[in-house]
Amino acid sequence: MKKLGAAVIGLHMGLGHVEGYKKNPHVEVKAICDLREDLMERVGNEYGVERRVKDYKEILKMDDVHIVSVATPDQLHHEQAIAFMRAGKHVLCEKPMALKVGECKDMIHVSDETGAKLMVGQIGRYAPGFVQTKKLIAQGIIGDLFFVESEYAHDYAKLPGVGEWRIDPVNKREPFIGGGCHAVDLVRWIAGEVEEIFAYSNRMMLKDWPVDDCFISSMKFKSGVIGKVFVSVGCMRPYTMRSVFYGSEGTIISDNTSPSIQVYSNKLQNKLSFATVPVAISNHNVAAEIAEFVDCIINDKPVLTDGREGMMTVAVCRAAVVSSEKGTPVVVDDLLSSVGYKG
Ligand SMILES: NC(=O)c1ccc[n+]([C@@H]2O[C@H](COP(=O)([O-])OP(=O)(O)OC[C@H]3O[C@@H](n4cnc5c(N)ncnc54)[C@H](O)[C@@H]3O)[C@@H](O)[C@H]2O)c1
Repeated sequence: MKKLGAAVIGLHMGLGHVEGYKKNPHVEVKAICDLREDLMERVGNEYGVERRVKDYKEILKMDDVHIVSVATPDQLHHEQAIAFMRAGKHVLCEKPMALKVGECKDMIHVSDETGAKLMVGQIGRYAPGFVQTKKLIAQGIIGDLFFVESEYAHDYAKLPGVGEWRIDPVNKREPFIGGGCHAVDLVRWIAGEVEEIFAYSNRMMLKDWPVDDCFISSMKFKSGVIGKVFVSVGCMRPYTMRSVFYGSEGTIISDNTSPSIQVYSNKLQNKLSFATVPVAISNHNVAAEIAEFVDCIINDKPVLTDGREGMMTVAVCRAAVVSSEKGTPVVVDDLLSSVGYKG
């Protein structure tokens, strides 16, 4: 079978995409793109990619490119993903899908109209600890869920790029959307759709940022489950997404940076109430994400984290931001209706 051609735009997080495509037997990386020539040279030389362009629009014309990873700053996803889909390319768009719900809606529309597949890189769904957690919950090991919690706690002072687009006062990159989307997507994946959310926020750590850096939100799911998501990008602690899932028969504590998850259950085979389940550590399992997307393209399967999934996660995150600004709970469906999305 002829290999699919891939291109990657934005080579910091995008480097993981180049590596993921390189590992995939069905794909060949045909082009890379970044504004930084030094980065293109380094990545191009290391991975043997000859075509290197500064302007992503040159890739629109490349007939041998079938898949594009958009791994540029969040505020560019909307424009670039739409341009690639209109040019007939399938798009793997980094999370968050976009910063505004209306932009996500546009992207879904273009994917539907053109038939180009759109995947949003909600990488938490490929972290082995969370995959195992989801599997055990589906098997009923902790019974019926009643409360879920997750967090995105990341010391941004140590991240490259923080001095630029992440603190752009014009295209405000709300931490709850940019980073919190990981935690929100995880609890949505496991507990279903969020009905209503209420959040508080403050800016006591990154005082010169244009947005609040710390949020706590409580949410009610359509299933009746309740939950909370904590987001901080100014905290001083190692990065992890510690998450706890409480059910009628037990509890699972998991994250994306530990070699095991903890399961407390009345239903364990050996009748013990507690088990430590080993898992691989891979909090950026982009190769698995790419393998899934390539399989969806080759076998024309629906994409798990498609545009609708990406948008629902952005909508919950945006609802949290609006709630913290207004001081009132926000119904997620009302926010979706306000941009004309009817499901
Ligand atoms: N899945 C994850 O866990 C994860 C982790 C980190 C970042 N991300 C996401 O990946 C995206 C990129 O984040 P990052 O940390 O790599 O940011 P970064 O600022 O470190 O790197 C962005 C790169 O894109 C390039 N770039 C900017 N504008 C461009 C343009 N118009 N055309 C081509 N290249 C351009 C920059 O030169 C830079 O090399 C963001 O959307 C971010 O939210 C996802």
